[in-house]
Amino acid sequence: MTKEIKNICCIGAGYVGGPTMAVIAEQCPFLEINVVDINENRISLWNDPDLTNLPIYEPGLKKIIKKCRGKNLHFSTELENNIRNADMIFISVNTPVKKTGIGAGQASDLKWIEACARQIAEHAIGHTIVIEKSTLPVKTALTIKDILGGSVNKDYQKKIGQKTFSILSNPEFLAEGTAINDLKNPDRVLIGGEDEIAVEALIKIYLNWVDRRKIFTTDLWSSELSKLIANAFLAQRISSINSVSAICESTGADVNDVALAVGMDKRIGPHFLNSGPGFGGSCFKKDILNLVYICDHYGLNEVSAYWQKVVEINDWQQKRISNIIVKNLYGTISGKKIGIFGFSFKANTNDTRESPSIKICKALLEEGANLYIYDPKVSANQIETDLDKKENKLELTTNNLEGTWSSSNTIDNTAKGADALVFLTDWKEFQHIDWSNIAKVMRSPSWVFDTRSICDLEKAKSFGINIWRIGFSAMI
Ligand code: NAD
Ligand code: UGA
Repeated sequence: MTKEIKNICCIGAGYVGGPTMAVIAEQCPFLEINVVDINENRISLWNDPDLTNLPIYEPGLKKIIKKCRGKNLHFSTELENNIRNADMIFISVNTPVKKTGIGAGQASDLKWIEACARQIAEHAIGHTIVIEKSTLPVKTALTIKDILGGSVNKDYQKKIGQKTFSILSNPEFLAEGTAINDLKNPDRVLIGGEDEIAVEALIKIYLNWVDRRKIFTTDLWSSELSKLIANAFLAQRISSINSVSAICESTGADVNDVALAVGMDKRIGPHFLNSGPGFGGSCFKKDILNLVYICDHYGLNEVSAYWQKVVEINDWQQKRISNIIVKNLYGTISGKKIGIFGFSFKANTNDTRESPSIKICKALLEEGANLYIYDPKVSANQIETDLDKKENKLELTTNNLEGTWSSSNTIDNTAKGADALVFLTDWKEFQHIDWSNIAKVMRSPSWVFDTRSICDLEKAKSFGINIWRIGFSAMI
């Protein structure tokens, strides 16, 4: 027996809610999907008539929004009605690390999850399947169950009949920049829950485009925990290869060759072994810190210390890079112009949350540098917020005590008069830089610091530029 689903509501129109619902709407034109959010500005951007200002940049997203929006995909702030009409509700709200109180700096702040559960409890009618799409600490479903269970008001029940809920965990594994492809061709779809009818109803939706063999069902707790562990494993690979990058720089080995050689072992595999400025993004750090918190809670202190190191190596890698830049520029960058290439946490997204660029730029500003920052998709306003420093719109000053930053719109302007260029995001366009031209406009002696192994450094070197690349010492 299955429950027929006609109407879906997704609470949270962010990097997960927006693209995920867009893909479901496209694959299941017979479903009516309402994405709701308390952030009015975000919703109005999703409804932007000519689609030029969608709140999220994600390759392939605009096309789907154009096709489905206003047909079976709607964005609004209308929570009440959409919760009431829904057969199935996805919770896709933010779950950041708690800033204050018990577990501050580690535990997930579940206040947005709790608020959602209370809204659902109040407005839902009949039977509703509630799905945890957000990444949550193991056992969060218990909290949601408690809130939903406590909502049943006797008078109300008499009037409109039983109000019931099934809770499922269906964590999302998409990566930003490849979200649409990841959603359309997932490695697996994970569904945790006890209510078989609800599980089957969700499976039925995915079967519209996902092979049944890729749909894996578990109990709630295994599903919740698997999401945290998947992110922890991915982040651990990055910290592992980044720790190796430092060994390579000291010994004369090349981290890219080491990664290739190691990854050729089928048991290890080639993916996620690119050394860089450390992992960014809204999730890896917070999910590992949350795992650390859970381990400590259960008295598993050795286990928590193990995972904590993954985050520590990541912070260390960022600090290491800013130190290397200062050291190579004769120990001082005060008043020097440094071109920064890339501010998003990875290519093909406008998301800057936890971007390594933030910490590295802040460290360079503290040393008094004048930064010119170029990113194809990140706005100057966003950079201003992240650096917590007003943009300098005046001419460069060379005797400033404090560092300054300005946004730049072209690669040439970013390089003009610069002492050094620092590549922090792996945008494809950085692979095709015209080094003969760049060498002419930079101040000599000029430097390139490539933290992503993305530039044609042999070319840059042939035009007299000094070069440094992550995990490689031979060129220095
Ligand atoms: P986000 O901050 O981009 O979006 C969350 C949205 O939820 C915000 O727009 C916010 O206004 C809205 N919201 C919060 N409380 C609300 C409420 N009570 N009612 C209505 N709207 C509310 O976050 P995100 O990046 O989409 O991440 C959401 C969840 O998915 C997190 O748990 C995250 O860990 C997880 N996740 C994220 C990614 C990713 O790539 N970003 C991938 C997999 C999983
Ligand atoms: C990551 C996971 O890949 C997703 O599966 C997961 O759903 C998501 O987190 C989440 O839960 O939020 P995302 O952070 O969007 O996705 O992007 P990734 O491709 O994982 O990159 C994360 C960071 O690691 C980026 O800063 C990236 O540049 C860096 N990275 C990635 C490396 O430094 N080296 C690599 O080899 C791969």
